[in-house]
Amino acid sequence: MAESMKGLHRTCRCGELSAANIGETVTVMGWVQKNRNKGGLVFVDVRDRSGIIQVVFEEGKADEELLAKAASLRSEYVIAVTGTVERRSGAVNENIATGEIEVIPSALRILSESETPPFPIEENSKTKEELRLKYRYLDLRRPDLQKNLMMRSQIATLTRQFLAEEGFWEIETPVLGKTTPEGARDYLVPSRIHPGSFYGLPQSPQLYKQLLMCSGYDRYFQIAKCFRDEDLRADRQPEFTQIDMELSFVDVDDVIEVNERLLAKLFKEVVGVEVSLPIPRMTWAEAMNRYGSDKPDVRFGMELHDVTEVVKDCEFVVFKGAIENGGSVRGINAKGQGGMPRKKIDKLVDFAKDFGAKGLAYIAIGEDGAVKSSFAKFMSEEEMQRLIAAMDGENGDLLLFAADKNKVVWDVLGNLRLELARQMELTDKNEYKFLWITEFPLLEWSEEQNRYTAMHHPFTMPMEEDLQYIDTDPGRVRAKAYDITLNGNEIGGGSIRIHQNEIQEKMFEVLGFTKEQAYNQFGFLLNAFKYGVLPHAGLAYGLDRLVMLMAKTDSIRDVMAFPKVKDASCLMTEAPSRADEKQLEELGLKLSE
Ligand code: AMO
Ligand code: AMP
Repeated sequence: MAESMKGLHRTCRCGELSAANIGETVTVMGWVQKNRNKGGLVFVDVRDRSGIIQVVFEEGKADEELLAKAASLRSEYVIAVTGTVERRSGAVNENIATGEIEVIPSALRILSESETPPFPIEENSKTKEELRLKYRYLDLRRPDLQKNLMMRSQIATLTRQFLAEEGFWEIETPVLGKTTPEGARDYLVPSRIHPGSFYGLPQSPQLYKQLLMCSGYDRYFQIAKCFRDEDLRADRQPEFTQIDMELSFVDVDDVIEVNERLLAKLFKEVVGVEVSLPIPRMTWAEAMNRYGSDKPDVRFGMELHDVTEVVKDCEFVVFKGAIENGGSVRGINAKGQGGMPRKKIDKLVDFAKDFGAKGLAYIAIGEDGAVKSSFAKFMSEEEMQRLIAAMDGENGDLLLFAADKNKVVWDVLGNLRLELARQMELTDKNEYKFLWITEFPLLEWSEEQNRYTAMHHPFTMPMEEDLQYIDTDPGRVRAKAYDITLNGNEIGGGSIRIHQNEIQEKMFEVLGFTKEQAYNQFGFLLNAFKYGVLPHAGLAYGLDRLVMLMAKTDSIRDVMAFPKVKDASCLMTEAPSRADEKQLEELGLKLSE
């Protein structure tokens, strides 16, 4: 039977011991990592979140009973050991922090036994993620996950400290609220007291934080849970956490300034990286033209070349057709990849098609200058040479072209650029390149809805100089919105908010809302704006993404304690699950077949 803690006191954690503790009597507690029985000599590695300590039970030093008890230990038993710290009699283990020392025990208690775990608790686990997520409580014992979650905790603590010092107040906003207009699908919670009515879980605290500014709280922050019912990816979860903030009486530069100092502090104190300030800024238009992405990875070049002008008179129908349809022809130069086998190029074509390309045209230039191309026959020698020159093509290069509407061309080449960089190993995980993206378009045309939708949200302020186009050419209006990106990831975003009622009403008009619809959905905000509304602005980080990048993992799931999988379910709790009839009845809900 498991023994109790009675009369026992842990004196320190396993990994906190070092040569400085030699001679001391200590009591450590933790899980049995490993138990090696060499007959009369039993080595037990005890693990807790701080690390591992070796305990050595030796005939002569330990009595028979103690030795037998030690020999009975198995992986993941929970034990308490009291003993003295001594310098290792055997070889020093360079791999662990406590490698110079060991504990020679005088007492051992088995606090709990364990069944054989379904997978070994070890760093860099080879176990399939599915199995690990099913037994997440065991997976979370692994040192890599513990390190990630420790880092996450540290980031949250430092953020709170910094923002508090900068005059931000931490204020909680409701989770049961009205639906928020951020563009993703809402999670709904049925109301028992108001059958047929639903709360919406917040996609972000956006409207509440704006109201807090209206109420005079000046600077707010919150580490807030947000919920979005969207398709999951490696960097997306249905519930995730934002570091959310809002500031009063500020413009773009003010928001950027305080956030750069926050980022610099976090990176310095958590990962020892010096962020050089100010962080560069790039307009959305420049980012799209140069990188085909509004979150470009600028750790490497391979920029897009717009060759529309160069090929506009050629006979290649693919190029010609795209240009005639108002599109463009652009290319990227994969340096030194001219010898890529045809099969691999075909794979790139398939990759491009996944992003909406109809095809991918290429020119492969051999080391000897010989040119192979999927469209050479449609071009004169001279046209070909001009195109190669426009692409800075040299011997040994592979030039890839997409011709289509701008949006498609950017998306295809932007993603192809990342794929090639991955294949060519152009990025360094230890390098951190931050970039602000500014001057986003205010609106986006939605083919589906046949109307403009807000690119950020309907409360984003248009650039003052573009207001003149809002009726005649709404697509041309830029927003006072900014995203902070890091190594090709959008880690945060925000904007200056509209605080003038006339502009807000105009915005709703452009978005196709009647006044009545606007008041139905956002009446509380529009009414609040009638009573002295101030200029305000804010920003929110995706905390999970930030930790993911700082911890250098590829998946957001590695930095969340209990993440969900691709179909938005939790493999451990098996949520979501069916509700019983009685619950449904109380809520006035009936399931359709
Ligand atoms: P936005 O929608 O850009 O802005 O969200 C801010 C940041 O949150 C992160 N993020 C996510 N992280 C994980 N999983 C998701 N599904 C997910 N969706 C978003 C991203 C993103 O940059 N209210 C505004 C902010 C503002 O204007 O102040 C907002 O929510 O890193
Ligand atoms: P085709 O004449 O259709 O065989 O196309 C000739 C080449 O152009 C092939 O390599 C296609 O992959 C490529 N191609 C087709 N459509 C496009 C496009 N929209 N952009 C770039 N290349 C294309």
